[in-house]
Amino acid sequence: MSTKKPIKHYLQFSDFTLEEYDYVIERAHLIKRKFKNYEIYHPLIDRTLVMVFEKNSTRTRLSFEAGMHQLGGAAIYLNTRDSQLGRGEPVEDAGQVMSRMCDIIMVRTFGQDIIERFAANSRVPVINGLTNEHHPCQVFADIFTYIEHRGSITGKVVAWIGDANNMLYSWLQAAEVFGFHVNVSTPKGYDIDLAQVKTERYTFFDNPSDACEGAHLVNTDVWTSMGYEAENAARIAAFDGWIVDGAKMARAAPDALFMHCLPAHRGEEVAAEVIDGPQSVVWDEAENRLHVQKALIEYLLLGKI
Ligand code: CP
Repeated sequence: MSTKKPIKHYLQFSDFTLEEYDYVIERAHLIKRKFKNYEIYHPLIDRTLVMVFEKNSTRTRLSFEAGMHQLGGAAIYLNTRDSQLGRGEPVEDAGQVMSRMCDIIMVRTFGQDIIERFAANSRVPVINGLTNEHHPCQVFADIFTYIEHRGSITGKVVAWIGDANNMLYSWLQAAEVFGFHVNVSTPKGYDIDLAQVKTERYTFFDNPSDACEGAHLVNTDVWTSMGYEAENAARIAAFDGWIVDGAKMARAAPDALFMHCLPAHRGEEVAAEVIDGPQSVVWDEAENRLHVQKALIEYLLLGKI
């Protein structure tokens, strides 16, 4: 009988228990303090992270690559343009081969099924760097940011104003793990897919302003992929009225925070007065991708230390 430890992947938010999140959050606070104090911390010397990008990225690539470097390891970037990934190599074969050459793998791809097939064939931990269905690393960093500014998120209300996308589904999984409530407002035609939702910790609002009422955190996301604005004119029309502006923030709790995972279109999903205003924590939110993912990688590779 094999005694080999099972591999721990991070493919969606619900893959960790609250106890695991509490541990990784504590490590992320410590790792952030070390970073701010220019303290050298190299627990992952000679370890290699491979980053597979089938979609564009700024924050995810930078935070994983810089993070692995800062932990003393190395990071290798692969995309579909100049690897065999874009030429039809089966994802199962890619998982087998890559995991024999490195210690941990981050994948940004289209369907959740693709990353799950990849992980099923990997000998090393696989992290979801975004799929169409989930963006757990971003929501993990968002929750860390909320805790930094306001303390525990348990029992709080998070407003989600926008379409039902990978961020919303990760927020809904997080609500179940951390015990908070999500007020969801999506325009008609961009509705929540109930088959993906395994929690009752949400309320749906037809009116996005009503969804912000009393919220402790107001969250939105880009409506149209950066660079595809012209093709998305119909989409922008459907979202008329969903912009997070000062009037909507005024309905939220007095100490409410605003978050956006970026990149953002000012004047579209969020007004400049909000994203550049005093309630916005978007720059901390972006930076915290680095600290949280360093703690996540450390945990997946070394366990509790
Ligand atoms: N928020 C986020 O995932 O940003 P990137 O697409 O730039 O990685």
